[in-house]
Amino acid sequence: MKFIHLSDTHILARGDYSRKPDGAATLRKVIGEINKYHRDAEICVITGDITHHGRPDQYEQAAEILGTLEIPYILIPGNHDERLALCEAFPDTPVDPNGFISHASLFGGIRFIMMDSIVPGAHHGTLCDKRLGWLREELSAHQDTPTFLFMHHPPFEMGMPFMDTIRLDADQELAEIVKANPQIKHMFFGHLHRPATGTWQGVPFLLAASTQRGEPLDFRHDKEEELEDRNPLVPGYGIAFADPDGGLRYHFDFIDFDI
Ligand SMILES: [Fe+2]
Repeated sequence: MKFIHLSDTHILARGDYSRKPDGAATLRKVIGEINKYHRDAEICVITGDITHHGRPDQYEQAAEILGTLEIPYILIPGNHDERLALCEAFPDTPVDPNGFISHASLFGGIRFIMMDSIVPGAHHGTLCDKRLGWLREELSAHQDTPTFLFMHHPPFEMGMPFMDTIRLDADQELAEIVKANPQIKHMFFGHLHRPATGTWQGVPFLLAASTQRGEPLDFRHDKEEELEDRNPLVPGYGIAFADPDGGLRYHFDFIDFDI
């Protein structure tokens, strides 16, 4: 089963080019490639930061561009998103009984669990008791089904002080859930705007590229305005092949774009 992974599209309103490069143009180019080369993918998963400021006019442009995708897509919010405006622009996006944009679907025999990890008005992420409860129930109801877990905020440090301060703060709670549920075969995060992989609690994870642009790979500074961008990274996305038992092969691809 083939799927596409987009993240951190950071769309602005139509006619707003204040953030370089133009995330609408880069996303259109990425979607052009998907429609040309990856129409055989079953689903496109988008791990948050759909818009840059969470405003309705930004979601309007995001929905219009994503509407040109010729494969279905599912999404979760990131720290730059607003739940209400997102749900209004994407009315088919499921919410859990508590109103969080968390949902689960089956693709190629694998359960894709998409978790809402946002904190309104803040850049770090969390999983409150309600969301942790929903996740535990979802996992216990499907213990024998290989599962991929998708969330905007990674729960671990990546050695990058700025990003590490705005990671998921419910790392202990999530660690217990991951250890208790060996059907979780892989975890996917956004937020970092950098391709990276590793393991956490014995489970492999990857961090997605941004379709807008890479963030600086800075291991020294903890303030955004101080970050050094030694090797600017062009926009990219992921192409994945999954087995029914949860096996995974994942390609990072990058588009030719003047940043
Ligand atoms: Fe982002």
